Amino acid sequence: MRIAFAQGLLVRPGFSIVALAVALTAFACGGDGPGPGPSTDSPASGGSGVGGNATASGGGAPTGSGGISTGSGGNPPTGSGASVGSGGDPGSGGMLGADEEYPFPANAADETGADLWLRFPTLPIPLRLAEYQAAFTHVVSEGASPTLDIAETELVEGLSGLTGQTVAAAAAPTGAGAVVIGTLASSPIVAGLPFASELPALGPEGYRVSTADIGGQSTVVVAANSDVGVLYGSYALLRHLQSHSSLADLSLTSSPKIKMRLLNHWDNLDRSVERGYAGQSLWNWGALPGTISPRYVEYARANASIGINGTVLTNVNADADVLTASYLAKVKALADVFRPYGIKVYLTARFSAPQEIGGLSTYQPSDPGVQQWWADKADEIYGLIPDFGGFLVKANSEGQPGPQDHVDGANMLAQALEPHGGIVMWRAFVYAENSPQDRIKQAYDEFQPTDGDYEANAMIQVKNGPLDFQPREPFHPLFGAMPETPLVLELQVTKEYLGQDTHLAYLGSMWQEILEADTYASGAGSTVARVVDGTVHGYEHTAIAGVANIGEDVNWTGSQFNQANWYAFGRMAWDPDISAEAVAEEWVRQTLSNDPLVVGPVTELMMASHQTLVDYMTPLGLVHIMGTDHHYGPAPWVNDQSRAEWNPFYYHKADTQGIGFDRTAAGSNAVDQYAAEVTQLYGTRASTPDALLLFFHRVGWGETLASGRSLWEELVHRYSLGVDGVGVMRDAWASVEDRVDGARFADVAEFLQIQHYEARWWRDACLTYFASVGGQTVPSGYAAPANNLSFYQGLSCPPDVKKPRCSQINSGEPSPAITP
Ligand code: GCU
Repeated sequence: MRIAFAQGLLVRPGFSIVALAVALTAFACGGDGPGPGPSTDSPASGGSGVGGNATASGGGAPTGSGGISTGSGGNPPTGSGASVGSGGDPGSGGMLGADEEYPFPANAADETGADLWLRFPTLPIPLRLAEYQAAFTHVVSEGASPTLDIAETELVEGLSGLTGQTVAAAAAPTGAGAVVIGTLASSPIVAGLPFASELPALGPEGYRVSTADIGGQSTVVVAANSDVGVLYGSYALLRHLQSHSSLADLSLTSSPKIKMRLLNHWDNLDRSVERGYAGQSLWNWGALPGTISPRYVEYARANASIGINGTVLTNVNADADVLTASYLAKVKALADVFRPYGIKVYLTARFSAPQEIGGLSTYQPSDPGVQQWWADKADEIYGLIPDFGGFLVKANSEGQPGPQDHVDGANMLAQALEPHGGIVMWRAFVYAENSPQDRIKQAYDEFQPTDGDYEANAMIQVKNGPLDFQPREPFHPLFGAMPETPLVLELQVTKEYLGQDTHLAYLGSMWQEILEADTYASGAGSTVARVVDGTVHGYEHTAIAGVANIGEDVNWTGSQFNQANWYAFGRMAWDPDISAEAVAEEWVRQTLSNDPLVVGPVTELMMASHQTLVDYMTPLGLVHIMGTDHHYGPAPWVNDQSRAEWNPFYYHKADTQGIGFDRTAAGSNAVDQYAAEVTQLYGTRASTPDALLLFFHRVGWGETLASGRSLWEELVHRYSLGVDGVGVMRDAWASVEDRVDGARFADVAEFLQIQHYEARWWRDACLTYFASVGGQTVPSGYAAPANNLSFYQGLSCPPDVKKPRCSQINSGEPSPAITP
């Protein structure tokens, strides 16, 4: 465990050092991961507590401080001034960061966050600065294209910023300090490199950045097979330099493991954003195509810098109007801006469009007129946007229109797109018209039998878990169950169920859990990552999608730390094997500071944040107990919605005896949708990790868990740990005051305070409710709930669902919840 931040740690008045110590201990315990997956302490992964045996081996520490599992299995720190994590680009072969001492940054200028991770401040450490100043004096782009021009400009500006000297574009290397960029085809220098013959194996988007002897000078070369590969390599070099890493043995070689790396915007044509908490949609449809906002370019640039190569502009709850000629002209304008950054545009297709905007009497795929309408529409779109990516479709779900049969619908659209090379991504987020026996079984039941029935350019897009983007779910059973049909993994970057804009929850660790989960589809090691990247089933098309958290807000994402989730999505889409901890560290270094007294504590707090949130919202495998509709605060008591599965009660079923949803063979048998090894793991109470216990099992209040506590005691403990964990996060953040700029420091500190109050709200509301139905009381050693159940049930929060807060619970000291 690394607690480098403890050096600078401030303890706020009223915050118990004992609670702090307990929570810190919990950081080290690890192992509340849901499994199945590889070992928790794999150095490669940085250890996120995802192991199948995690609970047995670590999470159930007999002394039972619980398990905020933070990646303590990662690489050890290398010294006081060194990198805190493993860091580095895959294949970079180097540690991030420098060994020099960082000066205290007196009066760092306030920042809004608008620059994201692309800031390029001059290095404050003299030795590395001198190294960079000598190595970078001019940029030589061999070849000319809009994309190479962008790469050149990025390097000129980024290197000028980092070195504090003018780095200029030049026609040819002249003496020391050249950076040469180009492709095998465009650049004689690249074609003549000793490793030129190895470049084709890197594929269309891969790159190699290394040092070569050119004309007797040691020169940094960014080499690739395509212009966009050069752009990705240029950003990789800038990432390395923004992390203040050494140029010795520079070797950054990488190719994406997944071909389509897409943002899904849930943006409506009126600029509202479904589940968006960062202001209006970026797309100003009213002003397009005539007015091109500079933010479109900045958006494209930010995405390219992390490897995102496609964007679905519109909400899955689709509006047919976007397919009309006037909107397509606007879409074309955006596509033209994004193209040089390697980003393709996609649209959501409302299935009833042929009827709604085409004037046909039906939209069923059996109708030749409907088929022709889509073929004509595809021709029209590709006439405007030759590299249009394709359609994303939500059909027959939550009121969206659809075909009688998914296969017919997907194949009709696939056939329309096929002549143009487009893809249809058909979503598997469906649940039954009539109240199902178990909602989470629906998608598998509907889609698995259709495996192999789809056109080659049709993909099925599947959320990470079988329910709906909960703070923690098991992986979706369709992964591994559709060998003949390529699956798109859909992650949610916008934190609909994880505190939305205010709560700090770094999602990299959650995604790592999912990616590392073993489906056993083709024996051990058939992880979700290997299914999605095509390794397990040999998919020709591979894709990953992230529901965007981006809006018009100056800081793009509604909070400073939500930027890290956009960043992590791109980096993990490019390389699903990169560790969440390495990504967090990269982000901190580029976005906040390279000072170890910032990098250490902030990376640690990010890595702890997801488990902390799970603990104070939905511990032990609870799900969907948020307020209905807005999904923000706690409402486990709600049971009056017209459909059973819209009620939080449906998911926990707490009564006098116990709590949990029995999904074993004795219950809904949802476990049977997994491969035998996973069915066995989750279908057996003893082997189910505590982290998913109540998702799969019904457990009596008095039953003893691995920790030695009863279920009720463990629930109280977890909720309390979560609250005090936010206190630890606040203290970690307090320790970096004056080491980051005042404006962003204050933004984050304010949100963490809200999060702390709201964590206590979650704990107290849930515990008073579960205590009342289960006939339990909060044991000694834990703070009594601040209010009674009727107070929490009577709250009407949040008043504004776009910027949700609950000020009525902001009083008193949230911690300690575990009392001394
Ligand atoms: C969730 C979310 C909806 C969204 C849906 C989807 O249910 O709350 O707003 O439309 O997912 O993924 O389609």
